[in-house]
Order: sequence, then C-alpha cells, then structure tokens
Amino acid sequence: MMKRSVALLTLASALLMNTTTNGAVDLLNPIGESDAAFEQRMAWFNEARFGMFIHWGAYSVLGGEWQGKTVPFYAEWIRHKGKIPKDDYRKVCEQFKPERFDADAWIRTARDAGMKYFVITTKHHDGFCLWDSAYTDYDIKDLAGLDFDPLAELSAACKKYGVRFGTYYSIIDWEYATTDLAFMKSGGKEQYVQYMKDQVRELIEKYDTDILWFDGDWKKWWTMEDGADLYAYIRELKPSIIINNRVSKRAKFKRDFGTPEQTTPGMDLGYDWEACWTINHSWGFKKADTKWKSTEQLVEKLSDIVSKGGNLLLNVGPKPDGAFPEASIGQLHEMGQWMQVAGEGIYGSDSSNIAQPSWGRLTKKGQSLYLHLFNWPADGKLVLSGVNMQATRACLLGATDQDLRVTSGKERVEIILPKQKPAGLVPMIRLEFEGEIKAFSKANQLEVKEGDVHLPAGVSGD
Ligand code: GLC
Repeated sequence: MMKRSVALLTLASALLMNTTTNGAVDLLNPIGESDAAFEQRMAWFNEARFGMFIHWGAYSVLGGEWQGKTVPFYAEWIRHKGKIPKDDYRKVCEQFKPERFDADAWIRTARDAGMKYFVITTKHHDGFCLWDSAYTDYDIKDLAGLDFDPLAELSAACKKYGVRFGTYYSIIDWEYATTDLAFMKSGGKEQYVQYMKDQVRELIEKYDTDILWFDGDWKKWWTMEDGADLYAYIRELKPSIIINNRVSKRAKFKRDFGTPEQTTPGMDLGYDWEACWTINHSWGFKKADTKWKSTEQLVEKLSDIVSKGGNLLLNVGPKPDGAFPEASIGQLHEMGQWMQVAGEGIYGSDSSNIAQPSWGRLTKKGQSLYLHLFNWPADGKLVLSGVNMQATRACLLGATDQDLRVTSGKERVEIILPKQKPAGLVPMIRLEFEGEIKAFSKANQLEVKEGDVHLPAGVSGD
C-alpha cells in the first residue's frame, strides 16, 4: 500500500517537472514556478530576516572529544574526523539521553531573541535520526531508546509561539554507506534516494516542516538532476514549503534561497539568500570551543546581512542533555533586547542600493531608510551621502523615540545627533522621505559572488 502511493507520488512529481520543448527538465526552476508565485511563497521568509539554527544529535554526546582528545574541526563531524568505528558510534548514539530537553524553552528563547523561524538538524552526516523513522532503526527511539518525540514537541512549540519550523536533512549519510562509491554505483543510489524521499515525507507529514534545509550537496554522485527531482517531489507534497539551494548543486542552483556559510557577501546577491553563522566556531556542541562572538558582533552581523537583502540563521549547539550553552543564552537574550528597539529596521527590511556608509549600515522599508550606527560620529553629525531626496523626519529609536534635526542638501542628508550615544548596542535612526526611495548612487559597489569572503570594515569575520 505504502509502496504504491510512493510510486504514484513519484509519477506525480515527474509530471509536475518543468520541461523545455526538447523534454529536458529546467534544472534551475524544476517546477516552472512564476516569479509572482515564488515571491508570494517566500514572503514570510523575507519578512522574517532572523532565524535560529540548531545542530544537535548523537555527536553532541561527545562534545568534540574522542578517547580523551579534542578532535579537530566541527564537532558534528567527529564520527568521520575521529575515525570512530561503526560499532563504537552506535554506542555513542545509545548514550543520547537529553534529560533536560525543553522544547518550549528553546522556542521561547528563539522568539525572545527576535527570531521568526527555527531550523534543526534532524539527520546530520552521521545518519542518526532525531525522530522515530519508520525507515531505519538508526534513530532516537530504536537505538537510543527515547520515549518522547523532540521534533513533535518543537513543531508544536513553534506553532504556539508563532515561529516557523524547519528541518535540516543531510544528503551525506555515513551510516547508509553513501560515501562508498561502489555502493552508489551498484544500484545503491536509487535505494538511498528512495530512503531520503521516504524520510523527507515523514518530516513533512509528521512535523509539518516549513523549510527543508539540505546539506552535503558537494558529493560527486549527487547531481543537478537528482536535486531537481527531489525538489519537485517535495513541492508536490507541500506546495508552500521553502527549500534551500543545497537540495541541488549550490554553486548553480539558487532556489529557493542561497546559503553562504560562515561568510557574508559584500553586497545584495540579486536572489533570496540566508547566511548561516555560528555564535562560537563549531556548529555542534564542542567543549573546547570558546571562541564566542560578542553580542555587538552578532548584532552588527545581522544589520550587515539585512543591509544586503539577506537573512541570518544563527546557530546554537545544545549540550547532549538538551541545555543551551550558557554563553549562547546571554547573547541571544541581549540580541532580543536590541530587536525590541531596532526590529523595525530588520523585519521586512531590505537592501537600499545606496553605498554603505563608513559609520554603519542602511536598510530600507517603504519610504524610510534605517541607519544602523556601528560608530557614533565624534562631531555629533551624521552624514548620509548618495541620496537626492528630501528627508522629512529623522527619529532615533528607543524606549521613547527621539526626533532629531535633519537637513537635506545636494546628494546628502545631515542629521544632528544627541551629544551622548544612547545606551545599548548599535543605535538606529529611522529616516523618513516623502516618496519612494529610489535616488541613489551606485558608487563603490562591488561584484561579489555568494561564498566570497568580503567583510566590510568594522564587522568581525570570526
Ligand atoms: C558545513 C558543515 C556542516 C554544517 C553546515 C551548516 O557544511 O560541514 O557540518 O551542518 O556547515 O551549514
């Protein structure tokens, strides 16, 4: 029965595929979605701007250490980097007992930080599944013996707090032997792709995931055709879902959004994108990793990203017991305090096409520009060049907003600032104009591709 419905669904997604006149699938837009339909589907995502990424799984148990030694690289890679034998890693999975896990607290923390969506690793490269999958025993129930369903709890908490729920799913699977090319060549690939489809269907049907976030697309055996097929299959199952571009080959495929990682592009990429960053260095919990970014660095990162039309997906690597590392809690709390004042210039805001000022970043929403002040000018005057329009009002956002004196001249607007920089991180000014903001100078803009490291002055690249 199950087999038959899967076959029908595969046929349906094949029919849905967008083919050119010679019958080839459009690998860059597999279901031939119109721009208008695409924009409508992506609207909540582009409004959201800020989400939480979670890397949590069996690897969290080890905290980046194997046989008493810290294993180099990201902690979630420890099975591979530490050359941990299959049977030993099974024992690690068995030790995954998150006694302090509290889905409500996780999502409340995300919401209070100002985050509007949440993406969790449901199966990372190690292959261990964070839900009781009908298609494997390598999961939290059958192997680790958990008697509760963290994804169900998280999905419900997301609905409760108005946060969108997303699931990360790795194309690479060290348990399913997909690194073994012989296996892939001898028909193993079809079998594995079916496994992926079955599991992804579970994530949609059981947990109503809003985003499918793939990773591991760099494997040679995974092709653009495979990506297009999987993309069409998923959109057929849930038409409103959003899928990241790693479902196919990320260098070419940009749907539904690009995914620069641990880097922020130098400018608006011209398509929807989301930069994912860690708060320290590793994605998964790593005891030895203490390279925590400051809240100021994180807030500047968010401003910088939104000023270029992107989203920030900020990662937390919970401990094996389910608690967030203390250092991340402080940063998230402080970011939330900043977002309460400055969220106006983040949510639904976009890049302005005006060259980035030396003192900070600009975002645009409707008839307003938002000025994100990374540096407070010592002479008390804030100059914005490249604008040929009359500003009608400048307002310093705060618990109570403060109107500032503003004058517009040729290609510049000047604002007189209060003598004292207000307390808190990155002050923000809303600068209102009479009409739509379109007068801008393109000076100093650079051609930058996704993934290029081009960090503007004043923003830490850590
Ligand atoms: C890198 C890491 C992977 C992590 C991902 C997040 O690809 O190798 O472990 O999940 O970044 O984008």
